[in-house]
Amino acid sequence: MSGNRFTGRSALVTGAGTGIGRAAALALAAGGARVVVAGRSRAPLEETVALVERAGGTAVAEVADVSRAADVRGLVHAVVERFGALDVAVNNAGVFRGGPLADLAVDDWQTLLDINVTGVFLALQAEIRQMRTQPGGGAIVNVASNLGRHTQVPNAVAYAASKAAVASLTRGAALEYIADGVRINAVSPGASDTSMSLRPGETEADRAVRMKDQSPLGRVSSTQEVAAAVLYLASDEAASLVGTDLVIDGGAAL
Ligand SMILES: NC(=O)c1ccc[n+]([C@@H]2O[C@H](COP(=O)([O-])OP(=O)(O)OC[C@H]3O[C@@H](n4cnc5c(N)ncnc54)[C@H](OP(=O)(O)O)[C@@H]3O)[C@@H](O)[C@H]2O)c1
Repeated sequence: MSGNRFTGRSALVTGAGTGIGRAAALALAAGGARVVVAGRSRAPLEETVALVERAGGTAVAEVADVSRAADVRGLVHAVVERFGALDVAVNNAGVFRGGPLADLAVDDWQTLLDINVTGVFLALQAEIRQMRTQPGGGAIVNVASNLGRHTQVPNAVAYAASKAAVASLTRGAALEYIADGVRINAVSPGASDTSMSLRPGETEADRAVRMKDQSPLGRVSSTQEVAAAVLYLASDEAASLVGTDLVIDGGAAL
């Protein structure tokens, strides 16, 4: 294992079968954490577990839908039962639904609220209830977005609103629970190297051309770059960061 920042700690990462969640799970495991990786589809979660194990780490897959309270409670229970505590939680699961606001299906709006907002709300509740009983407390990192609180683009209004809610939940919960030893922060990625940042019909090569124009940095962020920010906020080095929303977007929101 390449690090020890998280040795002896246990972590939960939602949406860890792909993208940013997988990168965060791999990085936490590389730092010594034992990780429960969660999502709705088992196969990608098992791939994440295999990648962690190949690198010498420990991970377990748990199928769960973060929009269901019982599933989320079950996830926290699973981490504590297996590893004895929940030290780190990364609330990363999320979905994108886009299009002009006036044409967006109400079902899409509801899906954004159910997964991106209620999913984080339920996770915070279950995680805080556990962490505040632990002598060492815990650290929670929510994955928001630069869209919402930091910037807006056309055709992403509903998604942006859901992520602004994540930023608000982060700040409020951080204030309420820091005295109990539960430290809560957020990362706000911009366009990152996952399928979520591809426009309909767009290839990765098309996206690279678009990003050269659109992003001050000139490219998407890698999932490892976003994961590095997640790990920093979850680590003891960030002990005095409370309710912070760390933007990782190559300057897009400037
Ligand atoms: N990529 C970007 O450009 C970007 C930018 C800003 C913010 N973000 C945010 O970063 C986070 C990760 O996204 P990503 O880019 O890595 O995209 P991704 O590869 O699509 O990852 C999203 C993950 O969330 C899981 N998920 C979705 N709904 C779920 C539910 N109800 N319960 C449990 N898991 C669920 C998905 O797995 P299942 O479908 O198997 O459940 C998937 O593994 C999201 O919150 C996203 O909004 C991404």
